[in-house]
Amino acid sequence: MAAWDKRDDMLVHGQDPFNAEPVPTALYGHDLTPVDAFYTRNHGKVPLADPEQWRLVVDGLVGTALRLCLDDLRTGFEPRSLVATLQCAGNRRAEMAAVREIVGEDPWQRCATSTARWVGVALTDVLAAAGVGPAARHVAFGAPDVSSLAHPPQTYGASIPLSKATGPEVLLAWEMNDQPLPAVHGAPVRVVVPGYIGARSVKWVDHVSVRSEPSDNYFQATAYRILPPQVDPACAAPGNGISLGPVALNCEILQPGDDDRVSAGPVSIGGYAFAGDDRTVARVDVSVDRGRTWQQATLRPQSGPWAWRLWTATVEVSCGPVTALARAWDSTGALQPESSAALWNPKGYANNSWPHVDFWAD
Ligand code: MTE
Repeated sequence: MAAWDKRDDMLVHGQDPFNAEPVPTALYGHDLTPVDAFYTRNHGKVPLADPEQWRLVVDGLVGTALRLCLDDLRTGFEPRSLVATLQCAGNRRAEMAAVREIVGEDPWQRCATSTARWVGVALTDVLAAAGVGPAARHVAFGAPDVSSLAHPPQTYGASIPLSKATGPEVLLAWEMNDQPLPAVHGAPVRVVVPGYIGARSVKWVDHVSVRSEPSDNYFQATAYRILPPQVDPACAAPGNGISLGPVALNCEILQPGDDDRVSAGPVSIGGYAFAGDDRTVARVDVSVDRGRTWQQATLRPQSGPWAWRLWTATVEVSCGPVTALARAWDSTGALQPESSAALWNPKGYANNSWPHVDFWAD
């Protein structure tokens, strides 16, 4: 086992903070990602919180501020369970970095995305217990982990619009795939914001604050924003760029892998597709002739409205090198953009261009 009970074959981008993604074969074919393969993204040391000591403060623009222990959450609110995919905004950055250098960010490949069944309570029920005031527009989350990557160093935080926070799908979760939440994934309680970039699903959450403005935490105000290509991220000020919320429509090829050798003839190609927030994946196509013709993939049944869609297609390949491309369409008729060059941004976020793998057929 690698650190934090992860599989030995995880691609580890850094030990401290611990950042790791599974190899494509560990994701392939699983509707739910086994916990030991679930990617993990951290900006500081993993806090080891004692569940008995843990408290959640709910304050800001509320009628009654709350201070809840784990038992208050478990017994005071209706338990909810749902399957949701988390996707890091830096997923597939490596491809973007191949277009033009991206300084100071980990080169995540195709697998900074994973899916689990989460159990907890709906944030909206907790907000209702506190009573949300009329000036409320955003809900901010705070956590105890300190990040020296932030300017200035600070604890991790994020926020989401009140309209999202009051959706029944946003959870304060303590269970992941029928196990208590592991430390590295936010024990004892984390936020799960289905359909939004992973950065908004704050782990080890200890503070929920109802506000009129988004959080001014570094990870909301300055990072996780699409900056114009000419801007040096080291000089970006709070509020610069486009703040990321809902995940961009994306898909990836998990099998075959780059440099695999397959037999010429029918070859099975498969992967995941994910459409953020209120959109769904409507279709995935595959091409093995550089996009001249496309074949429609078969979508597997979805494990719930907030889960990715796994897909497979069988294509005919002749002997020699093969490049397979994929592209997903969503329920609004939107298609992924073709090129990562067109999407390049200084922090390398939201690469949702057509994925490709290069393999060899004998
Ligand atoms: N929450 C805290 N407190 N600290 C963090 O560093 N990382 C965020 C989010 N929540 C983070 C956090 C990011 S960028 C992502 S993509 C997800 O957690 C990753 O969740 P995971 O490690 O459970 O996969």
